[in-house]
Amino acid sequence: MNKSDVIATLAQREYVNKSLDLLNKKENETGKRLTASVITFGCQMNARDSEKLAGILVASGFELLEDTEDADFVLYNTCTVRDNANQKLYGHLGEALSRKKKNPAMMVGICGCLPQEPSALEKIKKSYSFVDLIFGTHNLYAFPEYLSRLLSGERHICEIVDHADNIVEDLPVIRKYPFKSGVNIMFGCNNFCTYCIVPHVRGRERSRESRDILEEIVKLAGSGVKEVMLLGQNVNSYGNGIDGEISFPELLKRVCDIEGIERVRFMTSHPKDLSEELIQTIRSEEKICRHLHLPLQSGSTRVLKEMNRRYTKEQYLDLALRIRDEIQGIALTTDIMVGFPGETEADVDDTIDVIRKVKYDNAFTFIYSKRMGTPAAAREDQVPEDLVKTSFDRVLGCVQDTAKEQSMRWQGLTLPALVEEVNTSLGGYVTGRLSNNMIVHFPGDASLIGSIIPVVLEECRGFYYMGYTK
Ligand code: SAH
Ligand code: SF4
Ligand code: F3S
Repeated sequence: MNKSDVIATLAQREYVNKSLDLLNKKENETGKRLTASVITFGCQMNARDSEKLAGILVASGFELLEDTEDADFVLYNTCTVRDNANQKLYGHLGEALSRKKKNPAMMVGICGCLPQEPSALEKIKKSYSFVDLIFGTHNLYAFPEYLSRLLSGERHICEIVDHADNIVEDLPVIRKYPFKSGVNIMFGCNNFCTYCIVPHVRGRERSRESRDILEEIVKLAGSGVKEVMLLGQNVNSYGNGIDGEISFPELLKRVCDIEGIERVRFMTSHPKDLSEELIQTIRSEEKICRHLHLPLQSGSTRVLKEMNRRYTKEQYLDLALRIRDEIQGIALTTDIMVGFPGETEADVDDTIDVIRKVKYDNAFTFIYSKRMGTPAAAREDQVPEDLVKTSFDRVLGCVQDTAKEQSMRWQGLTLPALVEEVNTSLGGYVTGRLSNNMIVHFPGDASLIGSIIPVVLEECRGFYYMGYTK
């Protein structure tokens, strides 16, 4: 951490103390502690940010609730990667308004990716003027300050900055799970895929120093974390731009060396930067989970070029099949987009060809969504809705076929599962995650949560297993 980052962190601590005083005073007056709830949309990065937001809320004296129903302060940590993410937020804001009408003292905040996009920010300010606090992705670290202003009675706080100068370390965190944690290794993205809003709302790529990352993971391990997921939009370019910084495979090796850490995952790998060194590192480090998420987006070389993905169909296939070949038992998953401007049936055939050849263990399929300010949104050859729909169904059908077939291949094996939770719909069962990211339900109780135990994978039911311990 550099000096200005340390100063920024210390300043925020002062605000945390100020809020704490204000909340204690309020509790003395009313006999009630104020409650807060954080609702998260979007990716793993946002989920991790929400743990920081929750940490700040608790450090500032709020009682944290799972539900928004009775919360005095509701904070929406938003996503804007596709329009349906925006629509979801607007739905929630409608509900928040009706609650606020009943309880005018209730406070509503919005943060994360959505307000970083100017047209969405305008819409919120205009159509949802009851929102009390808006801030973006680059100034999350200043949440303690905004919170103390809110608690001092200020309203309509809107603080958006368009880029981050620093990475503020050491914010308080409340983890969702005691035994696993996401760890940011980098922020932002420099790839500018022509459909994507992420570089616009998350800013340029910035890697954290490996020393800070490793220190954080040592602390996590000390507090009982067994599994970490290293997070970045393109982890394979980790360290670019920092003189003398280690590579991503080297970082992985050092994380694996940390005592107490038993599983290491990472998300997301851009195919264009995936090195042979990374393949060999996954192969040789047993702690690295046998799962790789390798977004394809499209199987058509022409479409890939227009998306600015910087790989061809053949390069992708070569890479994916090499990974399958070299790393025994690895599960490959992907993201696929249908309906990118100009996409033809023949392009979709190419995508289906890749799916059949790679045989993904699982895939997220998305319908292309126009994002304001991206080059693809300005194109005139947007694909008609009915073609998008038939293409989407074709792709989804193919993905489901290969995923089903792939899921079956573990049947009868005994594999270690990290027990994550008690199964709420099946009495007497717990749910665990395998190294390959598949889920298994098996008999057990809450005392198993957080332990890694061998489970016999007795029966594959589509995308999950039923199993038992010996
Ligand atoms: N950094 C990751 C992706 C992050 S966004 C990567 O490059 O792989 C997660 C996924 O959302 C993307 O992989 C893509 O499939 C999808 N996505 C991004 N922008 C989209 C858009 N405009 N419309 C539909 N899907 C989109
Ligand atoms: Fe978006 Fe492409 Fe960056 Fe992924 S790599 S976040 S898809 S611009
Ligand atoms: Fe969404 Fe922002 Fe993640 S736009 S996908 S929450 S980086």
